[in-house]
Amino acid sequence: MKKSSILIAGGGSTYTHGIILMLLDNLHRFPVDEIKLYDNDGPRQEVVAKACEIILRERSSGIRFSYTTDAETAFTGVDFVMAHIRQGKLPMREKDEKIPMKYGCVGQETCGAGGIAYGMRSITGVLEIVDYMTQYSPNAWMLNYSNPAAIVAEATHRLRPDARIYHICDMPISIEEAMARILDYRSAADLETRYYGLNHFGWWSSVRDKATGEDLMPRLAAHVRQFGYADEQGEGKEEISWNETFVKARDSFALDPSSFPNTYLQYYLYGDDMVAHTSPDYSRANEVMAGRERFVFSECQKIIDEGTAVNTQLTIDEHASYIVDLAQAIAFNTKRRMLLIVPNNGAISNFDDDAMVEVPCLVGSFGVEPLTIGAIPAFQRGLLYQQYSVEKLVVDAWIEKSYQKLWQALTLSKTIPSARVAKQILDDLIEANQEYWTVE
Ligand code: NAD
Ligand code: G6P
Ligand code: MN
Repeated sequence: MKKSSILIAGGGSTYTHGIILMLLDNLHRFPVDEIKLYDNDGPRQEVVAKACEIILRERSSGIRFSYTTDAETAFTGVDFVMAHIRQGKLPMREKDEKIPMKYGCVGQETCGAGGIAYGMRSITGVLEIVDYMTQYSPNAWMLNYSNPAAIVAEATHRLRPDARIYHICDMPISIEEAMARILDYRSAADLETRYYGLNHFGWWSSVRDKATGEDLMPRLAAHVRQFGYADEQGEGKEEISWNETFVKARDSFALDPSSFPNTYLQYYLYGDDMVAHTSPDYSRANEVMAGRERFVFSECQKIIDEGTAVNTQLTIDEHASYIVDLAQAIAFNTKRRMLLIVPNNGAISNFDDDAMVEVPCLVGSFGVEPLTIGAIPAFQRGLLYQQYSVEKLVVDAWIEKSYQKLWQALTLSKTIPSARVAKQILDDLIEANQEYWTVE
């Protein structure tokens, strides 16, 4: 089997070590002979990199390892670029969340006004990575999970239509694992599902037993109606805020009991509840900085100080194995069925061809083949069209540096009540994002 050279872009991410451990666990199906890290923040990346270097040495994997902030060194000679950058890092996420909350609107990483501001930053960073890859390793594939994936996908589709890039999200996988637990299946791999929508904005229209084809929707519906995606004790996720999200799926499900909602729909369907429930002084970014980020960086520092990872609490990010599934499908033409964010081109028959939709695809070495979804109901179609138009307007605004288009995008977002409020939020976002983007 051919061995691949992997570049992780955003090497200083809180997810880097988990992905490296997961790659190590999957070498039998996806052999790797080199892992490189690239980040534009050298000191931050170095902490993660030095710890990963020790982990790799102790596992005697034989994998070559290096890290750099130099694009040419990083992007030359690689087969896959796995990209998880966060332009502006968590302090900018905090602003994305808190500015809309100041005006009583949803403040979230990828949804509503926060997602729009993050999108404007992310387009710049992701295009830079795409261009480096195209310049230095033109045959490589970029697997992007940098957020907000919907806006980033729309931007790369329009601005780099020939780029070798796939966009993927772990939320549906995580929800399918919850569905499997609810239905007493070993894992999501035992289910066969149909899903459609935009990233962080979609629904399952079918959930079946993969072996027998049995329709599992009625049994699942009986549970989700009462408990959402949590179990009967109300537990679905370790962290409190994520657990609440899994329970809240019950309310989104109530709107259309014939399909199962992505958890992110709570921000659009129950924006008022979300606002009432989150503190404008302590947002999710604060939780992540005090939780995941602090934990990862202190564990990495401990590994460096002790010169060994034998006592580390860092663990494999098993649920990130979808990234290996995708890379393996491309490298070895497995034709695996996966949810990807791709141009619609008729997959949803009553939706725009050029919209970037999240649908099941068969993935091989020569591209992906999206499966046909057919016509979707009026409720979902209306919501999707509104959100898709927001995302298109953001990309227009980025290209044209247009205040007008960005104001329209915010006004159209279901999370913002009026053009007046949209303008107030926009003016604050412009001020906060000066270093990253401008509109006139
Ligand atoms: P983080 O801030 O810890 O790490 C991001 C890293 O990217 C930082 O080290 C930063 O310096 C680096 N970076 C920023 N801009 C860069 C650029 N232009 N070039 C190179 N490096 C750059 O963030 P995190 O919490 O680990 O999340 C990383 C990303 O992964 C985010 O976009 C997050 O939303 C995304 N994510 C997506 C999914 C999904 O479902 N698609 C799942 C998990 C995380
Ligand atoms: C889910 C989403 C991601 C998001 C992640 C982390 O997995 O699919 O897109 O980045 O959650 O969210 P958090 O709030 O924990 O940083
Ligand atoms: Mn996601």
